[in-house]
Amino acid sequence: MIIVKNLKRYYKTGEVTVKALNGVFLEVKEKEFIAIIGPSGSGKTTLLRILGLIDKPTKGDYTINNLNVVDLPEEERTYYRLTQLGYVFQDYALINEMSASENVLILSLMEGKSKEKSLLTAKNALEKVGLGNMMDRVPGQLSGGEKQRVAIARAIAKKPKILFADEPCANLDTRTSKQVLEVLKELNKKYGQTIVMVTHEDWHLKYASRVIKLKDGKIVSDMRKRKT
Ligand SMILES: Nc1ncnc2c1ncn2[C@@H]1O[C@H](COP(=O)(O)OP(=O)(O)OP(=O)(O)O)[C@@H](O)[C@H]1O
Ligand SMILES: [Mg+2]
Repeated sequence: MIIVKNLKRYYKTGEVTVKALNGVFLEVKEKEFIAIIGPSGSGKTTLLRILGLIDKPTKGDYTINNLNVVDLPEEERTYYRLTQLGYVFQDYALINEMSASENVLILSLMEGKSKEKSLLTAKNALEKVGLGNMMDRVPGQLSGGEKQRVAIARAIAKKPKILFADEPCANLDTRTSKQVLEVLKELNKKYGQTIVMVTHEDWHLKYASRVIKLKDGKIVSDMRKRKT
């Protein structure tokens, strides 16, 4: 579904140009669960932001289901992003004035679903990540890991075709990390969602069906696991 060819992303700061991505070639098939690894600064977040249509490449081609998503007019890009893609990023992107459940249900309200249905979906999603008893708290009353899980619940409720997660377990203890990874795996297996997840932890890799390693803005290894 995703085809990326010779993707480059340069950052210019003053006289210096950082080649954050320097020629990435990648094909992602539907229903894959991809883990992206690599040293700090190797371009993982940059790649995820471009794949997630949050940022644009300096050069290169990017299509999703044969649609050239790089050259889409801004409005169509935004619409595509809202309707087809989901994110779990480290800065959570939660709305501080809203409770956990409101943060989760807002997207489905925006899509025109009824309030009752949206609330039920939000409730189920929050229970899945172990926050059933904190639905009425606002982000200020939640720890970092709990906020992260609200962001994950939001992605669960939305069931996007492709889910991008940038170190979704970075602030979580082992037990909660496991819970979150199990949920991601279920989304992948049960609902066929494609998942692209950046991680630093070796033990997370067993949840993925494919592991891609970045170094200096390039893919240096790409391993598919045999189906178990
Ligand atoms: N907005 C920016 N302006 C300038 N340089 C940037 C910007 N964002 C990232 N970079 C640089 O691009 C390179 C890749 O950054 P990126 O955030 O993609 O790395 P990463 O692999 O996600 O690292 P980490 O594991 O630390 O999160 C780094 O050298 C970084 O300093
Ligand atoms: Mg990063």
